[in-house]
Amino acid sequence: MVDLQTSVGELKLKNPTMLASGILGETGELLMRVAESGAGAVVTKSIGLEPREGHPNPTVIEFEFGLLNAVGLANPGIEDFREQFQIAKKGEVPVIGSIFGKGAGEFVDLATKMEDYGASAVELNLSCPHAEGLGQEIGAEPKNVELITKEVKGSVSIPVFPKLTPNVKDIVALADAASKGGADAVVAINSVRAMAISPETKMPILANKIGGLSGTAIRPIGVRCVYEIWREVSIPIIGVGGISSGMDALQYLMAGASAVQIGSGVWIGGPGVFSNVCKEIEEFLEENGHKSVKEVIGAAHSC
Ligand SMILES: Cc1cc2nc3c(=O)[nH]c(=O)nc-3n(C[C@H](O)[C@H](O)[C@H](O)COP(=O)(O)O)c2cc1C
Repeated sequence: MVDLQTSVGELKLKNPTMLASGILGETGELLMRVAESGAGAVVTKSIGLEPREGHPNPTVIEFEFGLLNAVGLANPGIEDFREQFQIAKKGEVPVIGSIFGKGAGEFVDLATKMEDYGASAVELNLSCPHAEGLGQEIGAEPKNVELITKEVKGSVSIPVFPKLTPNVKDIVALADAASKGGADAVVAINSVRAMAISPETKMPILANKIGGLSGTAIRPIGVRCVYEIWREVSIPIIGVGGISSGMDALQYLMAGASAVQIGSGVWIGGPGVFSNVCKEIEEFLEENGHKSVKEVIGAAHSC
């Protein structure tokens, strides 16, 4: 028997998979369903202070290599989310509250609410690539990442996980800033700023024109980011981007991630992806003589 249990700082997980923010994460019922499908933890859709409609349609395009989305942080607002959160908790795995705001004050208010709702940790969306004045427009600056992390850490006692953007020259500087702000772990990566044009209409396909690329196409970018962060900054990492199989997840674990999140892989393959990924990790570890998933975390750095 292989032990799939892992931990991200203080947060203990029965296996290293989590639902990524923004996919099936807006209602308690869906979060519960994902938990029951075998995810080790679930992350909510990013929630702000007020209800927000997001960008007009089309907001998501499916390609053979992934998704391009500009949902625009559509969400019901923190007050209306209380009830959904209580339903999500019935799934009996840690529920991580993802939040976004315009600055440290909003992040603090939201994090305090998430803690009050019973969140096991809070994920700071400092990386959405397609929302004006939010996400990566704030989080691309290391000093903002450090300040917001520090303010949130000073206001809650649950673990704080800033989620970082890959759309910068140096993601390591962002992870370093998060660490200086007292983060318990970093999440890498959010989607990669991208666009698609329809030659027939001579127009960008997304109504917002620019969106974020996710899925298979970005996996090598995510793996590289995790590898670089692990090498330079001493902080637990949650890897995300393009995972839909056990072998994909193992790349992230070996690059240094203590756990992984799955987003587009759930959108395309449904919540069954969590048990498949876990089964494939287990089989690989068993075949290669490992007793615990922890044995392979960071393994790619030993050469
Ligand atoms: C439709 C869609 C909505 C998303 N919404 C959010 C969000 O609200 N907050 C967030 O931090 N990331 C959001 N993401 C980004 C994912 O959480 C994840 O970081 C990214 O998609 C890469 O992982 P993947 O390749 O497994 O999808 C969204 C992604 C997609 C495809």
